[in-house]
Amino acid sequence: MSSSPNVLVTGGAGFIGCALAERWADRADRWVAFDNLHPQVHAGRRRPEALAQRAELVIGDVTDPGSGTGCSRASVPMS
Ligand SMILES: NC(=O)c1ccc[n+]([C@@H]2O[C@H](COP(=O)([O-])OP(=O)(O)OC[C@H]3O[C@@H](n4cnc5c(N)ncnc54)[C@H](O)[C@@H]3O)[C@@H](O)[C@H]2O)c1
Repeated sequence: MSSSPNVLVTGGAGFIGCALAERWADRADRWVAFDNLHPQVHAGRRRPEALAQRAELVIGDVTDPGSGTGCSRASVPMS
């Protein structure tokens, strides 16, 4: 059994989320950046180049209770 954590970072495609992923995603069993790609931050609403390739991007809104589908196996909120 893996001892690496599953990590879920809300706002994970933003400045702080990308910095966290750059530093730590390689140490996680699964790293999920959960983010709505808000247009004020993400022009074009594309995956940011700064987000580590190792990180999964799940697009959803933290204010929408139904949008967490796809990240239920990630269970360690960090932000
Ligand atoms: N180059 C730089 O030095 C630089 C660049 C950007 C920001 N900053 C600083 O970093 C700090 C902010 O960083 P941050 O990472 O907290 O902010 P951020 O704006 O970079 O990231 C926030 C993330 O949350 C997402 N988000 C917003 N609402 C959401 C919602 N309802 N559901 C899901 N996701 C949602 C956005 O799409 C975004 O990706 C500030 O102090 C800012 O001044 C510095």
